[in-house]
Amino acid sequence: MSKRDLMDEAAIAANFERLTQHSPMSSSHRPSYTKSLYEAIARDVCLDTHAHLPYLKEVAKGNVLEIGVHCGISTTALLAGVEENGGHVWSIDVHPACRYTHYGHPQWTFYCTWAGEVPQPGLPLDVLFIDGDHSYAAVLNDLQFWGPQVKAGGLILCHDADSASFPGVRTAIEDFCVWHNKPHDLHRGSNGLEVIYW
Ligand SMILES: C[S@@+](CC[C@H](N)C(=O)[O-])C[C@H]1O[C@@H](n2cnc3c(N)ncnc32)[C@H](O)[C@@H]1O
Repeated sequence: MSKRDLMDEAAIAANFERLTQHSPMSSSHRPSYTKSLYEAIARDVCLDTHAHLPYLKEVAKGNVLEIGVHCGISTTALLAGVEENGGHVWSIDVHPACRYTHYGHPQWTFYCTWAGEVPQPGLPLDVLFIDGDHSYAAVLNDLQFWGPQVKAGGLILCHDADSASFPGVRTAIEDFCVWHNKPHDLHRGSNGLEVIYW
């Protein structure tokens, strides 16, 4: 493991500890744990996905695939959603420490790997949430690889679709939607969440 990986792992652990200071993590899932964690993060307006957390929770049902866990903010909203609505979340991240964000949750499967190297999650997907590598090529690759696995009427959600720091995200979404002729709209705030109606 490189020094960079170790630093990232420490940052993920520190973030997670901050988020869970009122709800200590256990090695197995506790009833209502995700709900109280979701309520705690939804109050934290500094999180870069803050504006989108209620929507993520609302639409998460059935087979949900998440690319990019980091310290588990979006994962918490998606899991709170499937706890209420039914379903399962499959999450992908290259950092091994991400597995501890919701370790033991019965409705969660974590794959420590690159986005294109995943064993089969539950297919077809109802919801695909993309928040991994923010380069044009990587976002387009995630969209092209996983988008066609979403069932008709499902949703593809891309975070950072309205961020000057990641112009490639927006361009990749626009190219993908033109090629596949799919309607989409932008939820503003918190760097933007693009919703593609598949
Ligand atoms: C912006 S963070 C995700 C934030 C997370 N969605 C949240 O709300 O807390 C991006 C994450 O994507 C992961 N990542 C980047 N490129 C990836 C790839 N090609 N495959 C899997 N994970 C990747 C990084 O390790 C990082 O943890």
